[in-house]
Amino acid sequence: MKKIGIAVTDPDDWTGVSLFNSIEYYGMKPVKFSFNEATSEISSGKIYSGNVDLTALDAVVVRDLGPATHNDVSFRFDILCQLKELGVAVINSPESIAKAANKYVSSFLFQKTGIPTPKTIVTNNLDEALFALSSFRRAVVKPVFGYKGIGVECVRNSESGVQKLKELFKNNRLIYMQEFIPNPGRDIRVFVVNGKVAGSIYRVAPEGGWINNLSRGGSAKPCVLTDEQERLALKASRVIGTVYAGVDIIEGDRDYVIEINGTPSGKGIFEACGVDVTRMIAEYLVSGTNSSPP
Ligand SMILES: Nc1ncnc2c1ncn2[C@@H]1O[C@H](COP(=O)(O)OP(=O)(O)O)[C@@H](O)[C@H]1O
Ligand SMILES: [Mg+2]
Repeated sequence: MKKIGIAVTDPDDWTGVSLFNSIEYYGMKPVKFSFNEATSEISSGKIYSGNVDLTALDAVVVRDLGPATHNDVSFRFDILCQLKELGVAVINSPESIAKAANKYVSSFLFQKTGIPTPKTIVTNNLDEALFALSSFRRAVVKPVFGYKGIGVECVRNSESGVQKLKELFKNNRLIYMQEFIPNPGRDIRVFVVNGKVAGSIYRVAPEGGWINNLSRGGSAKPCVLTDEQERLALKASRVIGTVYAGVDIIEGDRDYVIEINGTPSGKGIFEACGVDVTRMIAEYLVSGTNSSPP
């Protein structure tokens, strides 16, 4: 029987619980563990967390890597890479999680492969950032390794906007800034599993807001994708190399891919549409882990 590890921090997390149930449903043995307690014993080569021997697993599904400092993050990625080398299927692959988590890298790859993405500048130079703001007029500044809309700020080319950008620069010394795409007050989250669209939702910003993340008060509504939106989501997932992903699309003068999430929550789409993406992930695990990702 295939033994599948689920890396998850919160034992009650909807996606973690559903992954557990779906893996069982497909006749495999799920085992939860948290990266918060990971140990790698160099002399013996053992890598474990609590009483789970990670090297004995057939596959690991990364629901989340857990809250981490810089040291922790690189340790956790290194463990995933080592497990992969030892023949454990790691889903998503550490390389794809790293590309998706890094907004600079994903923006670069979208542009390179012809996926429409908003104009973006990433710079260590404040003057360059100010110059870009004057051409964007209205811009969105984001942490390069951000998630859940945390630290996402709107900046205008006005006196107070320039002041705000200077403050943001002082704190980080690195600015990732994107033109603001005027949109209908919502964005689209597309779930892609194993090269197919598993489902999609609109995320509607709360009254008076412009950030659509569900964790920032956005609400999930069923969404039917256009062919173009479906094509963009599949391509973004292919370019980043994920087995499962949440692709964020914004509807402006055309559709733009704003980011891809390599460890997305499945809760919103389940509540809005009754689609359980973890079933499709488990289906992939039961049949697909011997073949290479799409
Ligand atoms: N260029 C943009 N134009 C308009 N709104 C944006 C833009 N970029 C992000 N947003 C809004 O901010 C939210 C969070 O941005 P996103 O890039 O998805 O970062 P996170 O990783 O924090 O989810 C998006 O869901 C969208 O509502
Ligand atoms: Mg997002």
